[in-house]
Amino acid sequence: MRITVVGTGYVGLVTGTCLADMGNTVSCQDIDSHKIDVLNSGGITIYEPGLEELIRRNTRDERLSFTTNLAECITYCDVCFIAVGTPPDEDGSADRRYVIAAAKAIAEAMQGPLVIAVKSTVPLGTCDMVADVIQETLDSRGASHTFQVVSNPEFLKEGKAVHDFMNPDRIVIGVDDPVGARTMQVLYSDFVRNGRPLLLMSRRSSEMTKYAANAMLATRISLMNEIARMCDNVGADVMSVRKGIGSDSRIGMSFLYAGIGYGGSCFPKDVKALAQVALESDSTSNLLDAVEQVNRQQKLLLANRVVERFKGDVKGRKFALWGLAFKPNTDDIREAPALAILKRLTNAGAFVCAYDPEAMENAKKMLSHNDKVIFAKDIYETVEGADAIILATEWGAFRNPDFKRIVESMKTPIIFDGRNQYDPEEMEAHGFQYSGIGRGYKW
Ligand SMILES: NC(=O)c1ccc[n+]([C@@H]2O[C@H](COP(=O)([O-])OP(=O)(O)OC[C@H]3O[C@@H](n4cnc5c(N)ncnc54)[C@H](O)[C@@H]3O)[C@@H](O)[C@H]2O)c1
Repeated sequence: MRITVVGTGYVGLVTGTCLADMGNTVSCQDIDSHKIDVLNSGGITIYEPGLEELIRRNTRDERLSFTTNLAECITYCDVCFIAVGTPPDEDGSADRRYVIAAAKAIAEAMQGPLVIAVKSTVPLGTCDMVADVIQETLDSRGASHTFQVVSNPEFLKEGKAVHDFMNPDRIVIGVDDPVGARTMQVLYSDFVRNGRPLLLMSRRSSEMTKYAANAMLATRISLMNEIARMCDNVGADVMSVRKGIGSDSRIGMSFLYAGIGYGGSCFPKDVKALAQVALESDSTSNLLDAVEQVNRQQKLLLANRVVERFKGDVKGRKFALWGLAFKPNTDDIREAPALAILKRLTNAGAFVCAYDPEAMENAKKMLSHNDKVIFAKDIYETVEGADAIILATEWGAFRNPDFKRIVESMKTPIIFDGRNQYDPEEMEAHGFQYSGIGRGYKW
């Protein structure tokens, strides 16, 4: 098939590249000319394992191209994906402005029948809105092209995006007509050969499915974080509790890690956006509000514990911050808990010496105004003369460093393990004072 992807960010670039790798001819379009220039000159705009190689192969074989010119690629296209951002508005609702602008641009450029698939995560009724905008724009052009708008939410995880796109647990298609359904079934047929379901449902059910999935996952995380706080106070170990409940087949092990709260470009904004959907539809969002509140508190838990450990006196101290990305294997720092910790400590007058294997460039851009942040070349540089280490992102590279060297170069060997990555006894044997999440701590 011939495919256009409007919006070449995380989702658009992965979607376009993976569809090209399945033999389709794909143009990824974006209004950000810098992004397109980087991709056209053989560079890459995001860090995502396996993606660069796929881009190289598919551009070489001329199945994948990048452009700012929508009219150029949409003329002979069968399916046009909308994968632009839906950032939170001031009230927490998803800002649909970019989706609507993309729909209008598509309608201005299209030259024949087209299926428009909305991949962005959007509030209920957005696909109806997109259909209205396209119809109005075509009418104003005096054009009578037929089109179908389908909802096709994306469930990939950053850090495993290529794998997730190529091996989806399920594909959800929200569609109100048979032409749109058939086109999407053909497009995705290779992705569901392994027997995973392609679920057809109404557009609104599909839009709700995406929000409900993220709300469910965020709820599990906040529940475990709340239980972890209790564990700290009652002398239980949340890691044992996780195993104890995760072994129950009704519960399962995934998304039961206690930590420093969820971040990233999806959970925080999607939980808030769904709460706003509830408000606007005269429904309730009691649980979602609590999930969000627990997460906000959890992001500050470790920084508050650091301040408490030093009896409120952190001014002028130096803390090593390991990890800036909101999770490993990505350079995405949007809503990263590391940033909340960094802000809390530097506001209190401390210096934070940070290192992340992939997110340094993004972090430097965002934190250039903060003269209390020092960017190190590796973790060993972060710990020189440091009062404590704070582990914020569980990168594999942080698992087994030379702890002897680290302990020797620190002022005080204390480690705050925000991801329960280390074994407390082992860390104490290395000479650290250890504090995890929900595993008790002594001072
Ligand atoms: N990032 C994820 O892990 C993930 C996973 C599932 C779903 N989603 C959803 O997918 C959508 C996109 O997310 P993302 O992380 O890829 O965002 P992103 O910010 O990385 O990319 C969005 C891109 O859209 C471009 N854009 C904006 N308006 C445009 C227009 N009118 N025409 C062409 N391009 C335009 C921007 O320049 C940007 O490059 C969001 O709704 C998000 O919630 C994201």
